[in-house]
Amino acid sequence: MTAAPDQKARPFRARPASRGLTGAARVPGDKSISHRALIFGALSVGETRVTGLLEGEDVLRTAAAMRAMGAEVERLQDGDWRVWGVGVGGLSEPEDVLDMGNAGTGARLVMGLVASHDFTAVFTGDASLRRRPMGRVIEPLSRIGARFEGRRGGRLPLAVIGTAHPLPIEYELPVASAQVKSAVLLAGLNAPGITTVIEPEPTRDHTENLLRHFGATVEVEKTRTGGRIVRLTGQPEFKPSSIRVPGDPSSAAFPMVAACIVPGSAVTLQNVGLNPLRIGLFDTLQEMGGDFTITNRRDEGGEAVADILVRHAPLKGVTVPPERAPSMIDEYPILFAAAACAEGDTVVRGAKELRVKESDRLALMARGLKACGVDLDEFEDGLVIRGKGRPPAGGASITTELDHRIAMSFLVLGMAAKDGIVIDDARVMDTSFPGFIPLMQGLGASLEPAA
Ligand code: S3P
Repeated sequence: MTAAPDQKARPFRARPASRGLTGAARVPGDKSISHRALIFGALSVGETRVTGLLEGEDVLRTAAAMRAMGAEVERLQDGDWRVWGVGVGGLSEPEDVLDMGNAGTGARLVMGLVASHDFTAVFTGDASLRRRPMGRVIEPLSRIGARFEGRRGGRLPLAVIGTAHPLPIEYELPVASAQVKSAVLLAGLNAPGITTVIEPEPTRDHTENLLRHFGATVEVEKTRTGGRIVRLTGQPEFKPSSIRVPGDPSSAAFPMVAACIVPGSAVTLQNVGLNPLRIGLFDTLQEMGGDFTITNRRDEGGEAVADILVRHAPLKGVTVPPERAPSMIDEYPILFAAAACAEGDTVVRGAKELRVKESDRLALMARGLKACGVDLDEFEDGLVIRGKGRPPAGGASITTELDHRIAMSFLVLGMAAKDGIVIDDARVMDTSFPGFIPLMQGLGASLEPAA
């Protein structure tokens, strides 16, 4: 989130309401798919229609970047967008700096695109994005032939000097990251021959699904050790397609956990994406004793979608297997909030990546939960939370450091914590979940501006 300097932070308070959360709600479109829908539309000659697009700050930055590089990107009505693209390899040099705001996904994917175009683009972002490591994309994209000039540690602002002669590479991911995989594949789109990405642990596959949807040839081979090898044939001709973006499971996670921890709740979340590589939190909450009923399962444009009824249930602590991390990487903050209300220890290890998200999520969650009265230990790669079988007292004021998921996690916890919880700035939630506050209020949550 990049707030104009004259706009003031909006502190917000959550406190327990007199009754449980009830009713039905639709969460906004999937952030990962929304970024990619705009990018793929911009690479197709002709019109791509996108419905259900997430109109969050992050995605709007990607829309602006694609416009700045020659695509027509137009909002028709709520969530309904039209993209008129320029073809694979047809982007043009942006006249100004690309400000990606808070969006790590937008920044890294668009860097991948620029890497294999014969021009230069300069990227910047808000204070959170400028702290985040870009070396993880600089390394493979340099092998493709791009050059980079950035701040120490490869941080933004950063110039990407694309190459006129991109090479197809074979690259094994050193960290499980769908952003890095996607940056390499997007760069490989404009390279002759086959670009190969080897991922030791499978990460979200929206890029692969959409590449196929737009007509590219992508082969995915499963390895004996549980990883995947993705092979993309370069220089395809994309055919414009329509895309229906499902509700974001990472956003659904917040009302879902709220319903789990607020007594008397029964909430139905409609049209939630259930891609198997995104449902680690659902599995974990079910192991903790969460009460879920899944109905209306269907397939929409290659993505699994369903409605989910969540009822309040007592939760118990569990050990989350480290190999589950890629399928719930954005959901750990809200899992920690659930764990703080559960009976017994919840053990999360192997989640070191949380230190380089929009904030250091292990540090911020540990600090905030302790301030709410939660007993926990922090490790370099995780947390052990010792729940007492009831919500913590709360009463804390939380620093969110431009991190939307920290903000929403503590507001959800505040809906169950006796003394409520205040966050320092509610504006950050627009990054991924515009309308979070009215949606939760509509279900009966007590949320109000704080002094
Ligand atoms: C995303 C991948 C994940 C996730 C991010 C969205 C994507 O990041 O945290 O919110 O759309 O590819 P990493 O790939 O860095 O794990």
